[in-house]
Formats: sequence, C-alpha cells, structure tokens
Amino acid sequence: MTDAKQIQQQATLSLERLWSRLEITFRDEAKAASADWLVFETRVRHEWERLFGLLVGLYGGQYDFFYHLEEILNATARSWLVRPNRLKQLDAQREATPEWFQSQQMVGGMCYVDLFAGTLNGLRDRLPYFKKLGLTYLHLMPLFESPEGNSDGGYAVSSYRRINPRLGTIEELAELAHLFQEHGISLVLDFVFNHTSDEHEWARRAQTGNNEYERFYFLFPDRTMPDAYERTLREIFPAVRRGSFTWREDIHKWVWTTFNSFQWDLNYANPAVFRAMAEEMLFIANTGVEILRLDAVAFIWKRMGTSCENQPEAHQIIQAFNSVARIVAPAMLFKSEAIVHPDDVLSYISPQECQISYNPLLMALLWESLATREVKLLNHSMRNRFRLPQGTAWVNYLRSHDDIGWTFDDNDARWEWIDPSGHRSFLNQFYMGRFVDSFARGVSFQENPATGDARVSGTLASLAGLEQAIQSSDEQQIDLAVRRILLLHSIILSIGGIPLIYLGDEVGTLNEYSFANDIYKAGDSRWVHRPKADWDWREEIENDPGSPHGHIFAELVRLIALRKQQPAIYGNDTEFIETSNGHLFGYVRHGGGQRLLVVANFSDYPQEMEAELLRMYGPGYSFADMITDQTLTAERPLLLEPYRCVWLEARSAV
Ligand code: GLC
Ligand code: GLC
Repeated sequence: MTDAKQIQQQATLSLERLWSRLEITFRDEAKAASADWLVFETRVRHEWERLFGLLVGLYGGQYDFFYHLEEILNATARSWLVRPNRLKQLDAQREATPEWFQSQQMVGGMCYVDLFAGTLNGLRDRLPYFKKLGLTYLHLMPLFESPEGNSDGGYAVSSYRRINPRLGTIEELAELAHLFQEHGISLVLDFVFNHTSDEHEWARRAQTGNNEYERFYFLFPDRTMPDAYERTLREIFPAVRRGSFTWREDIHKWVWTTFNSFQWDLNYANPAVFRAMAEEMLFIANTGVEILRLDAVAFIWKRMGTSCENQPEAHQIIQAFNSVARIVAPAMLFKSEAIVHPDDVLSYISPQECQISYNPLLMALLWESLATREVKLLNHSMRNRFRLPQGTAWVNYLRSHDDIGWTFDDNDARWEWIDPSGHRSFLNQFYMGRFVDSFARGVSFQENPATGDARVSGTLASLAGLEQAIQSSDEQQIDLAVRRILLLHSIILSIGGIPLIYLGDEVGTLNEYSFANDIYKAGDSRWVHRPKADWDWREEIENDPGSPHGHIFAELVRLIALRKQQPAIYGNDTEFIETSNGHLFGYVRHGGGQRLLVVANFSDYPQEMEAELLRMYGPGYSFADMITDQTLTAERPLLLEPYRCVWLEARSAV
C-alpha cells in the first residue's frame, strides 16, 4: 500500500471500524466526560490519517497489524482519560500558542537529581535557586528504576513507571512537575527508547525464553548475524566492549547492545514494541513532563549492510510517536538527541518529528574556535547549517553530561582549507592537554585503538582553562579562562534558540577525578564532569564575586536577565556576517522592533572590526553594548578586548 489515495481510503475505513468499537469499550467514560471526549475524538480524527499512514508503512505487511492498530488507539484513549485536567488545560493553551518555546524568555538547565540535590524533594527546595538563575526549562537526568551499580547514569531503564527509590516516587515527580510549572519552569525528562536495561521486565521475560518478549530485542544463537551486521557498524563504546553485541552465557545468546552490555536494543520492527513503548511514553507524559528528550534517536532502526544509524524508519517511528503524543498530550514537545553528522541532526527536526534538537555542531565548533582562535569553520558552518524549519528551535549548549565529539562536516572543513581528520586529532590533543600551550584539561573518552578516534570529557571550566590557571595561581590565565567561559555563554544566550546550561557550569565547576576510585564509574571518563554539587562551597562563592567562580555566576545571572529583555532574540532567524577579521564571529538578530549585532572575539589579543562594517551591519550610527553599557559609534572601528563579546543595540546619542 503505497498510493496516497489508497492509504487515505484505508485510514478512513479503519477508523470507522475502530471508532465504533472504541465507543463501546469506553462508553461510560465517554458519557461521563462528553465535552472532553469530543476533544479527544477531534484530535484522533485530525491525526488519524498521518498516524495510520506511518504505521502502515512500518508494519502494514505483518499479519497482526490491525490488532496492534486497535491496541494503539485504545492506549491513546486510556491515557487521555487519566490525563490530569490541569495538563489538558495546558494542552489547550499550548495549542493556542504553539511558538511558546521560541521566546527569549526560555533558558534551560540540566542536572542529575541525586548529584545536584539528593532526591526529588531536595530538588524542590532548590526552586529559588533555579528562579534566581532564570531557568524556564529543567532537564532532569534519567531518574527511573535502573540496575544497581553501573546503569550508564540511569540510561539503562528497568521501568518507565517507577522512579529509582533512592530519588523519590512517581507521585513526587508529578508534584514537582506541577510546582515547577506554576513557577514557569517546564520539566524535561528522557525517553530512553532505543534500549531497556537487561533488568526490565521485558528483558527478564526474554531471558526465560518467552518468545513474545524475545522478539522485543535482537537475540542471536551464534555469531552469523552479529558478524554480518558488524561489517558496517560503528562502535559507540569501543573501550567498554568491542563490537555491538554481547554474549549472554545464561541464555546462550548474542544480544544487540549498541551502548553498554546491559543496555538491550529494542526491536522496533516488531509492532508490539512500538505499541508498548507508546504506552510508556504516554505514562511519562501524564506525569506533567513538557519536553521529552528522545535519547539516541539515530540508532532505533537496524538494516543489514548499513551503519544502522539514521535509517528512514527511525524517522517514521519518531513521527508516529509524535502523532500519538499530539492526540493525547499535545502540550508535550520532543527534543532530539542526535549526536551525528550535521545533515543527519537536521533530518530529525520538524514540527511533525522533533520540534527541538540539541545543536552539537554549534557546540563542537565553539570549542574548535576556542582552540584555534579562528572562526572560519564556525562561521562557514553556521551560515549554511543554522537555519531551521518554521516551528522548531535549536537547543544550544556548551557542555552536557556526555563527551564532546567533533561532528563537523568534512567538506565544510576542506572548504576552509582544513584537513578534517588531522583537525580532529589536533582538537583531541588540544583538549586533552597534550598540545603545547593548551589551556585545556580534558580527559579522553572511548579512544578507539583501531581507528584512532576519540572524544573528550571534562567540565566547561576545566576545558576552558580555569583548572590549569587556578592550579598554577596565574591571575592572568584565570582572567582569560573566565573570559572564555563568559564568551561562550554570551553566544548561546543570544544566537537564537533555547540556551541550555549544564548545571555546575554556572559556577565554573572543575573536573572531579575521584570517579576513578569507583569500580562502577572508573571505565567511563564522562564521570569526570558529573560531580556532586557542593552547596556549602556554592554559597560561599555566590557571595564572593571576587572569586572566579563567584564572578562567573554573577555575570551569568546578569547575562540571562539581559537576554530576556531582548525581543530581537525571539525565534531562529540569525544572519551571520562577515567580520573581515578571522578572530571575530558576528551575527545580527532582528525582531520586535530591535536590531542586535553580536560580535565575539575568539582571540587572546585585542581585535578590531572596521567602522565600515559596523555602519553596514550595526544597529545605527550610535549604539550601545548591552553587556557593558558602553556607548559607541560607527565612526571608529569596534575594538574588542581578548575574548570579549558585545551585544550592540541602537541608542540615540545624548
Ligand atoms: C545518550 C545519552 C548517553 C547514553 C546513551 C545511551 O546518548 O546522552 O549518556 O550513554 O544515550 O543511552
Ligand atoms: C555517541 C552517540 C550519542 C551518545 C554518545 C554517548 O556519540 O551518537 O548518542 O550521546 O555516544 O557518548
């Protein structure tokens, strides 16, 4: 069934059949809440053709397709009926203002519940802190039940309905979501849907030989299939285990495990998996989560002879989840976590798939520019790759809980006369502090002896030079490191999209090496940038703007507040400009009657932008830097101190 007309007819016919059965199943509930039920029916009718088309494309060839289709529809009804009223109100509100997340008011933060605040209730107590920072979006790292010991920081989920008891309960999560929402902070949680832990009930049943659940995963009796697949697979965690499969002695089978050996990849070619995971997703939605971070999106569909990344079916599956969410929980957005080639990153972003996405290219190239002191690759790439479809937005970040990989496009690099692979090894050397005169103190992650590939771990502050500068008590280097940290933030706060702060970075947290003594963490250097928040220390430095950490915090709070006052930062439209100076990155933001010119100096020496260019791109003849409140004119060249970023706005001369 490929013909669009035919699908349309089949969609109509199938809904006619299914809807009348659904009305019988839910007769009492529908009667009890008839106005509500009508809203549900309207949404189903609106989405049905799209959802049906996607599911038919994926599963139409399977004999039990219609059964699963009905189960999916029933699941949406069940979830809708138990969706709390206040969330239904939020749904209506967000449907009326679908661009809410484009606002310059949006500022994101992310943290681990246990490391940041101990428990969910501890996190509630940190609400004043989040408000002081100005957050409107808070991503809590995975908090569902997961294996003791190593659980990949919670990314091995054993139940999508139970919270890790050390952190709290599902009721506490829902209360937290509610409270934060009342304070204008949207809760963001992960949907770790590429794999479950090997302790998830489905995996346990598969381990007992239950055929229904064996088919939820990829299990093979011998190496024939694993060998055939591995001919074209990339190794994601080569330092953990070679290849992408794990031998399980207890069941005498090879299991597909893209990440750690205890993270079993789900088999989405099986419609039962889609249905089961859709139900888990809706359960999570009903706790009050407003943004769902779709974890490891690239890996969810496998095809022999390919890298098994970014397959067309992966998009169809996410779109089908999106459609299900539009029916039951339209307030909820999807955020894509695709840390892949920039073209592929883009392919997940659309209102029908993921409305927002990490921007790993900007992240990597900001670090690249800091290392090289040159902005040519950054500028070239942003010119061609920053633009997004209407109704979507970037999430711009500097650090996350993960490593940094150098995911720029090879041809973009060649265009700027940069040898891509040589450049990647330079960047790795630089950030691992192995390069002469490097200011960075990063740690290598998943170095692959076979290919020479590696990624980098480390906190923002340690990578930007603060660790080394403090240890050598070098005031000048400390000053430069702080400037680098603020420079990077000034960019993600003004470039357009949602800035996301990896909490800890707002106070310039340094690397924490003690993870190496923990057997469950020692093999994963990402723990170097996942330290426990030390609130005594934080209070001290917050009240001491003279310390570099206190200074970073105070400045960041100020920059965030400043961002929120700039109507020009609303939305995605950014015009990248040619500054005619290889160290200066510049762009113009427009909107709400405001024109903002941002220029950032990536060099450790003062740099100039010509007056003529200022007259061309600047916001007028007389203008002010919002950050320093300095008044300037386009008569003279713009002089920028090392690592200084200015946000220039028109101001009439007085
Ligand atoms: C995502 C997470 C990462 C995790 C992986 C497997 O990429 O960000 O931390 O290791 O998925 O779930
Ligand atoms: C790979 C994956 C990404 C994941 C990361 C974890 O880069 O593409 O999804 O976050 O590994 O290190």
